[in-house]
Amino acid sequence: MTGKRILLIIGGGIAAYKIPQLIRLIRGEGWTVSPVLTRAGAEFTTAMTISVLAGEAVHDGLFDIAKEAEIGHIRLTRDADLVVVAPATADLMAKMAQGLADDLASTLLLASDKGVLVAPAMNVRMWNHPATQRNLAVLRADGVAVIGPDEGDMACGEHGPGRMAEPEAIMAAIRARLDTGPLLLEPQAQVARGVLAGRHVIVTSGPTHEPIDPVRYIANRSSGAQGAAIAGALRDQGARVSFVTGPAAVPAPAGVDVIRIETAREMRDAVEAALPADAAVMAAAVADWRVVNAVPRKMKKDGSGRPPTLDLAENPDILAWVSGLDGRRPKLVVGFAAETDDIVAHATAKRLRKGCDWIVANDVSDGTGIMGGTENAVTLIDETGAEEWPRLGKDEVARRLARRIAEALA
Ligand code: C5P
Repeated sequence: MTGKRILLIIGGGIAAYKIPQLIRLIRGEGWTVSPVLTRAGAEFTTAMTISVLAGEAVHDGLFDIAKEAEIGHIRLTRDADLVVVAPATADLMAKMAQGLADDLASTLLLASDKGVLVAPAMNVRMWNHPATQRNLAVLRADGVAVIGPDEGDMACGEHGPGRMAEPEAIMAAIRARLDTGPLLLEPQAQVARGVLAGRHVIVTSGPTHEPIDPVRYIANRSSGAQGAAIAGALRDQGARVSFVTGPAAVPAPAGVDVIRIETAREMRDAVEAALPADAAVMAAAVADWRVVNAVPRKMKKDGSGRPPTLDLAENPDILAWVSGLDGRRPKLVVGFAAETDDIVAHATAKRLRKGCDWIVANDVSDGTGIMGGTENAVTLIDETGAEEWPRLGKDEVARRLARRIAEALA
């Protein structure tokens, strides 16, 4: 990795005293730093210190830059390989989440199509405030990488999460981020970079059909739209995708390995045959029960007026089985939870019960139009908690999920 350029946005916070060390580490790699100091940042460190260490003048005014013949602030972002915001204050994060652009730093962030890494630093109460947590969720969903904050004693005398990550840890995060390449926002650019190139992901999708007789079956209303979109988004990120699908209402995406099955047991076998994989995304709506007394010939009314009895047995839980595999378990296992009430509590319990890493929970209660519709409102649950995403098209949910998977596997 030669000749990398880091656009370093320095926000206002006591943690700015660690920035000279971060600049030294970046330059120690032989990389260049374009420093940008916010007005608040200038209260904690000086443009002189920063520019001497960076070996480059500090950019601090939208106006000065706009005077240049070229549109300077756009160029600054175009030349960079990665944008790093450190310390990222609550205010800067709020601006980023909102897309505000009222100074040089926020304008650069909005004008940038490059990967962004933020190192938050703030008082513990500010960090824990629902507004900051909401903004953090928005930034994550937008593909922004986050390092820290660390827990510990803070300059304000309180204790808890809020300390900026150490420069060495930020440097490691920068390296990791550059290794996978900046997660560019344009879908076309993502295709070109293929951040999941060389990775294999299994996606299950659609309903299963559990036969009663040759013409009848038990099924559910899943269209397979979300699973197909996820498979397509993972393909766009460069992954090899094994797409194990039941009889879905939507076509399978092009450019993935399609394995068509009907029953839950066939789905389980197909998943097993597709292993090993780096990740498994279980988006299928697997029927919970199969009919054990299914018959090979069409059932007929026998004239007695007594309907037949169906004996049901539980189907294998494919998600729980994959999550519990020894040795062959994919590094990342993602399950889905369609819930109608108390979504976070139920889905959090499901994550633990099934042993998967993430649960993508969605509200399929009456009136949401999600089941079979084109939109989805999901909450992503991992071991750190729940992150609510706005209501989005299923394609956009898929893109965001694929980006997150790419980050997790990086
Ligand atoms: O238990 P429940 O059906 O609510 O869990 C949903 C999640 O479990 C989904 O990810 C689904 O694909 C997966 N699942 C499975 N095999 C089953 C039942 C559910 O993989 N038999």
